Amino acid sequence: MKVNIRLPAVAITLLGLGLTQTTDESIRQIAIIGAGAAGSSAAHFLQKFATEAGVHVNVTLFEKTDRIGGRTRTINPFDDPAQRVEQGASIFVQANSILNDAMSEFELAPRVPDDDADPVMGIWDGDRFAFTLDQSAPSWWNTLKIVWQYGVTAPQRAQQLTTATITKFLNLYEPPFFPFPSLTQRVQELELVEVTGVTGEEYLDANNVGAHYSHDLIQASTRVNYASNLANLHGLTTMVSLAAEGAIAVEGGNWQIFHEMAQRSGVLIALDTAVVGIEKTSGGASGRTQYTVQTTPGSTPGDPTTHPTTFDNIIMANPYQFSGISVGDGVLETPIEQITYVQLHVTIFTSPSRFSPLFFDLPESEKVPGMVLTTLAHDDTPTSGADGAGKAGFFSLSILGKATNPQTQQKEYVYKIFSPEVVTPEFLSRLLGSTVPSDFTGADSPITWYTPHVFNSYPKATPRVTFQDPIVGSGVYYTSGMESFISTMETNALMGKNVARLIVDEMMQGIATVKSRDGLAWEDKQAILG
Ligand SMILES: Cc1cc2nc3c(=O)[nH]c(=O)nc-3n(C[C@H](O)[C@H](O)[C@H](O)COP(=O)(O)OP(=O)(O)OC[C@H]3O[C@@H](n4cnc5c(N)ncnc54)[C@H](O)[C@@H]3O)c2cc1C
Ligand SMILES: *[C@@H]1O[C@H](CO)[C@@H](O)[C@H](O)[C@H]1NC(C)=O
Repeated sequence: MKVNIRLPAVAITLLGLGLTQTTDESIRQIAIIGAGAAGSSAAHFLQKFATEAGVHVNVTLFEKTDRIGGRTRTINPFDDPAQRVEQGASIFVQANSILNDAMSEFELAPRVPDDDADPVMGIWDGDRFAFTLDQSAPSWWNTLKIVWQYGVTAPQRAQQLTTATITKFLNLYEPPFFPFPSLTQRVQELELVEVTGVTGEEYLDANNVGAHYSHDLIQASTRVNYASNLANLHGLTTMVSLAAEGAIAVEGGNWQIFHEMAQRSGVLIALDTAVVGIEKTSGGASGRTQYTVQTTPGSTPGDPTTHPTTFDNIIMANPYQFSGISVGDGVLETPIEQITYVQLHVTIFTSPSRFSPLFFDLPESEKVPGMVLTTLAHDDTPTSGADGAGKAGFFSLSILGKATNPQTQQKEYVYKIFSPEVVTPEFLSRLLGSTVPSDFTGADSPITWYTPHVFNSYPKATPRVTFQDPIVGSGVYYTSGMESFISTMETNALMGKNVARLIVDEMMQGIATVKSRDGLAWEDKQAILG
């Protein structure tokens, strides 16, 4: 007989055993703290996996700010909502299947490349342009240009190495490597420890990628992607910086992926709610370890109140050291390591002016590349200048495209600067070749709209062979250990998915245990109930 009841699976099992449990006991209460890539992905996949498995979860997603997306966010040039640029994470790639699948599922359109984006890229070392490339030129010409300057083998080897490394990494998505209760263990099994345990410089050198090519082109990409020189970050992060083939972004903002993941999962979303404390409780009727969380409004922190729900699982989905959470005794069975993050200044502004050639010691008639990446000067060391930025003093300067100034109705350039220190009016005056006042946008300023922001952007990815594993307590999970391995939207979303799978698998195991103890097959129990 086919029974058509939709009681939670655990409730059925327990009923079958003749136990008197309330329905509520069968619902797994889960708190996710943080609605960035990791937390939103955890919500999305918890709901999906639980539905597939026929188990019931009740998920509450706590988010300190009033929006979903975390470090993925857009801002509006001229405060015009119709014009948007990425302030945080800006691109992902074809191999990022979680993000790509979500985009298709949610029918989000890819962003069409801006015709106004400048096609010329130059690598500035603080003294001179070490290399320039016109991306609108025929590709054979550009290939020739690279070969002429760096030889054939270095770019080829770097490409092969990137492909091989990414292929190893992609194993994490499929059984038997997925899900992973220990990231450290998988990194060893997949032999990725050879890549994370050394610096980018050592890894490239050991694999005979020419030093000249590494110093200029590869270092330019580790600096723009991870604000770090090759000597200061590990090999895997270096390889990820090179895997930029087929870059994608979502029209209107990448945050929409996470917004849709969270919204459509139907979980309870508590915005403007900061979790400030987690306490272990004596456990419910089931004897399970449970937790209470204390919250306060994110915007106007006040006295913490205890959230009425007692949770079976806690997923901490943000870097712990910045979370402002204090945990009670016994919550963390494994301490969470303090990680040094890069403090990155992201400055976005509009101007009708282009970069001044004089800033780059070029003749006044010469056009400066619209995308300026950087590397170290010949007399720099990897730790020269602020945070290793060297003589250049910044990691990148680029024209993202154009936006319409509502006052003049003229199109102006939209600029983005990545730097280790706050950008000053003096620096901008030299860069644009005319005086920028101390308030940046006053009368006669070449700057018409200005928004600086500083992020704890990603870890300083120094070489390491162990990583913070996702299970940090009994039913307590942590996603940001992923960031010291690879910090991207996709990898953090993968960790959210991984934790969701671990929780649902553990719930199913619980049912299987009860079932086998009971000696009845699943179908028999359904028949009894029917
Ligand atoms: C400038 C910049 C450029 C980047 N470029 C790229 C790129 O091009 N491509 C790419 O893939 N990645 C890029 N990254 C990295 C990427 O943004 C991150 O790896 C990823 O977004 C992190 O996601 P997450 O969910 O782990 O953390 P977060 O995005 O930081 O989300 C954590 C969330 O938790 C919330 N929170 C924190 N504490 C609490 C609390 N106590 N209670 C409730 N909520 C809390 C926060 O408000 C936040 O919303 C970039 C990052 C930066 C800063
Ligand atoms: C689900 O969680 C919410 C909020 O934390 C709580 O108010 C609600 O009672 C829970 N629902 C069930 C059915 O357990």
